[in-house]
Parts: sequence; structure tokens; C-alpha cells
Amino acid sequence: MLHFNKINDTRQQLHAWRMAGERIVFVPTMGNLHQGHLRLVEHACQLGQRVIVSIFVNPKQFNDKDDFAAYPNTLEEDFSKLQAAGVDALFLPAVEVIYPDGHQKNSEIIVPGLSDILCGAYRTGHFIGVATVVAKLFNIVQAEVAVFGEKDFQQLMVIRRMVNELCFPIEIIGVPTERECDGLAMSSRNGYLNTQERQRAPLLYKALKQAKSQLQSGGEDIPGVEVQAQQRLQEGGFRVEYFSVRSAKELSLAGPGTQDLVIVAAAWLGKTRLIDNIRLNFG
Ligand code: PAF
Repeated sequence: MLHFNKINDTRQQLHAWRMAGERIVFVPTMGNLHQGHLRLVEHACQLGQRVIVSIFVNPKQFNDKDDFAAYPNTLEEDFSKLQAAGVDALFLPAVEVIYPDGHQKNSEIIVPGLSDILCGAYRTGHFIGVATVVAKLFNIVQAEVAVFGEKDFQQLMVIRRMVNELCFPIEIIGVPTERECDGLAMSSRNGYLNTQERQRAPLLYKALKQAKSQLQSGGEDIPGVEVQAQQRLQEGGFRVEYFSVRSAKELSLAGPGTQDLVIVAAAWLGKTRLIDNIRLNFG
């Protein structure tokens, strides 16, 4: 597996592959790779001839300095996993390469209407940081396709909207969430859970599944389902930020006529913030 720290070296290699007619697929990550990331890579391998992964812990998307500082660095293991998965190149830039003048002074991308709701309302500036770094990475890598996990549903929507509205010549593919045997969505943050919290954590997905089946059976209205789920989670030891039934197209509040729905949730267990979602279609 080739690896690059500099933008020009990365571009040169990717240019050569492009000139040889090879389709390049990009998987952006922040490292600390788990089975969910490897599923993205597996998917990427099926979509083109060359797969490039980036590992960059983006300071601009962390609204909490301590959270950024504590983000796990497992580079050696990540490298071996990507090599074993058949990745062609790893882009591993330093913060100064992506933000030579610091990330606060950098030009920013705001996706109005999506950046400041749900997770964006609780993590000020988070999606500005995500959209900005993803735009930069897209411009560096210039892949034809990029692959993201559906676990970060709002992130995926922000990126799709940005790509669409700013006419990026790239196709965005979402990959279903990879789960542990007990249903917990795989996430780098799961490693922060202590033993007791880890036992409780699957309740988040269970609450999403229960809410989905309540809505499918038609016996409950949306606000009633949301409140019941929040209570269930609180009783299970979670501090709920939101548990909300939304339009899967706009992330706006769902009403009785909305057909394509997503139920999104964010909740804390101790010091760990977990997010998850489930789709529901009445079409
Ligand atoms: O999902 C992530 O790991 C990050 O938000 C991303 C897309 C790599 C941007 O830093």
C-alpha cells in the first residue's frame, strides 16, 4: 500500500492512475478503524480499480478540544488493516497540510438548513468542519466515487447536499451501518464505554426498532412514539439529546403524510455520545 503525507505526491499518483483509465474510489476516515470502516473499504473495492483511504482527525469538526485531544490514534493497526483489505493508497496529512493557516482562518462550507439541526444544534460548527474538510479532501483526491457510512446519516446528507449544490464531480455512496451482535452500531466511540455502559448501549438501537414497529403498526402518533422512546432510554441510563422522526429526504420534521422516514437519535451514556438511526418507508 502506498502512503502519502503531501498533497502534491498524492495528486501525482492519482493522476497517473486516472490517465491509465482507472476508476478511483475514496474512503475518508479519521482512523481508529473498525469493522464498519472495513465494510466501507470492501464496498469501495467493488466500485473501482483503485481505492484510496484518508486518515485525518479533523480539528475543525470537534466542538470540544478535549474530545479532539482524546480521539484514539491507532495508526499501526489501521495501516495493517488497510493493507490486508487491499487498499491501494493511504493519504495521511498533518493538520498543517490541510490547514496551513489554522482551521479557524480557513474558508468554510456551510450547508444551510442541514448544518445546524439535530447533531449540528448540539455540536456547534461540527458540520461546517465536516463539509469543509470533505470538500478539501475531494479536491485533493479527485476521485470519481466516495463512500460513507449511513450511521452518520446527517453527515451523509450534508455531504450529498454539498456535492449537489456545489457541483462536485463525484458520486456519493452510502453503506448500511455495521452492527455488533447485540445491535450496537459500530463506532470508534464505543471504545470509550465502560463494561456496564457497553451492556446498556444496545438499548439505543432497540429503542429505534421499537419506535419503527410502533409507527408501522399505526397505533401511535409521531410525538407519542418519540416521547416513549426517550423515556425508555432515560430509564436505561441514557441522557437523550434527541430522538426524532424525520423526513429521510430533507431531515425536516415528519408529518402524517411523510412516506420516506428516518428515525434519528443521539444520546449520552456517561461520557460517551452515541448516535444511530433507522429507516422506515410507507411508500
Ligand atoms: O465520518 C468521519 O470519519 C468524518 O466525519 C469524516 C467524514 C472523515 C470527515 O472528517
